[in-house]
Amino acid sequence: VDDADLQLSFALPAAAAANPWRNLFAPPIARAAPVSDRDVLSYVRESNYFDPSGGITLARVLRALPPQWDSDHDGRWNGYIPDAWFHFDERGFDRAADGRATGWRAFAYAPFLGAFFPTNGAMDDVLIRLDPALREDAAGKADERVYAVNLAVVETLISRADVAIEPVDERALGRDLDLDGRLGRAVRVAFRAPQPGRAAGMHYVGRAGALQDRGEFPLGPGLFPLGTEFLHSVRYIDVGARGQVAIAARMKELRYAKKVRWLTPADLKARAAAEVTEQAESADGVLQFLWQFDRGIYNDQGWLLQGFIEAADGHLRPQSYEESLACVGCHGEIGATTDSMFAFARKLGRGTPSQGWFHWTQHDLHGIPEPRRRDGRYEYSFYLANNGAADDLRENHEAWERFFDAGDALKPAALEKLHTDVSVLLLPSAARALDLDRASMAIARAQAFAAGREPVLSPTQHAHQRAPVDEKTGVALAVDGPMGPVGSEDVATVTRRPGPRGGRRP
Ligand code: HEC
Repeated sequence: VDDADLQLSFALPAAAAANPWRNLFAPPIARAAPVSDRDVLSYVRESNYFDPSGGITLARVLRALPPQWDSDHDGRWNGYIPDAWFHFDERGFDRAADGRATGWRAFAYAPFLGAFFPTNGAMDDVLIRLDPALREDAAGKADERVYAVNLAVVETLISRADVAIEPVDERALGRDLDLDGRLGRAVRVAFRAPQPGRAAGMHYVGRAGALQDRGEFPLGPGLFPLGTEFLHSVRYIDVGARGQVAIAARMKELRYAKKVRWLTPADLKARAAAEVTEQAESADGVLQFLWQFDRGIYNDQGWLLQGFIEAADGHLRPQSYEESLACVGCHGEIGATTDSMFAFARKLGRGTPSQGWFHWTQHDLHGIPEPRRRDGRYEYSFYLANNGAADDLRENHEAWERFFDAGDALKPAALEKLHTDVSVLLLPSAARALDLDRASMAIARAQAFAAGREPVLSPTQHAHQRAPVDEKTGVALAVDGPMGPVGSEDVATVTRRPGPRGGRRP
């Protein structure tokens, strides 16, 4: 989806002109009772994912479904039941209390620009799990070696580049992974986009490989296989005894996505084009998404998205329709995703512990080198230079002062440090971390998520109360996203808008 036009004009649906994110202008923290540092810390260190006895709280509660959570009134929970134990081995695989593999695997990634920098509000993590067919050998038995190879195949498809693996014997797996034309010892999975008329291409191994041969388990560049799940916990920020900030035990949200339909590139292109038409023909330029109740919200591009969020008493509860709708605002028709998802295309790889397969509790952001864009430029530096700040609202003064001088110019020495260690940009000071936690606590206590979830510390000066719909933004030239210019051979491009649309003033 080519959405560069959104940088040039306020091409918003008229219905969205009045800014619904009222927490930006009147943050709940401004009305909240003061909370001491000590109380903040004891709150964020207490897990709302695990029971004090060690069980997974939501799993227990969802099995005896509280009537007020039963949105489709069928007496049962049909959505995701949390089943990750956040107990990872040295290769990132998650294990249950009894040692059983859950299928979840943690990976490290370059946090997405702006709102997802920890200094702007939260620490998070992402886990991936592939369909059982990709976790089993040809005979249908769970096999971690097969699973690791299939994850590398997926990484190859998503990054569109070769991926290094621990040496494997291709004869045992029966597939030519490095595409050198013979079965031997492979140390990488080779990327090759399927082309009509070209034989043997990329292949899954194990049971999924046999299904793929029968045309039942398709594979494609830039696409996750059917059945892929992601789990994303958005957390408070903990501060250790020496002032070091870290991912907290307490979750603000637990977010989940599952690919429930396989759509080919042609299908996806047709969907995107249909959305452009739907939007153009609607009364006020909006798209409609229907709630799937306890299963979340379908993004029309193959994925169900579902979330749990902190209740006023600190427990996690399912998100409402309105709260769930926010998910498709980002995991929907925008240009920055890869198959509707963000983090896996930004996974760390070669040169990082366990090739990037680790959880942030095993290694943190310290010493992680700055990611590069496709055009070779440093990504965060590029963002700072073009944005003139380290956050969406240009109000994170702490990060601003680290990188800009009094004349608004970037500090070369700070950028130099950033190239080899992203923590200098991404991590807040201990004092800021506690303030962000306080702001998040106030939003949760007020249950004010529909008015905005980002923990702003004081009323914003840099957002419109009422957007000047269809007026120019003042940006003269759109900036390419991290993927570089769209339109390369294997990327189907749909220009977001066929001409004037929406934007009619109410
Ligand atoms: C403001 C945009 C935004 C909204 C709204 C949003 N997400 Fe995300 N989501 C992201 C970004 C960006 C990441 C990558 C995380 C990072 O870089 O730290 C992500 C990561 C994820 C992941 C991990 C897989 C991936 O895409 O990398 C899941 C699952 C997820 N989000 C589900 C949800 C659900 C469910 C909701 C609604 C409750 C939601 N998201 C709302 C932007 C958003």
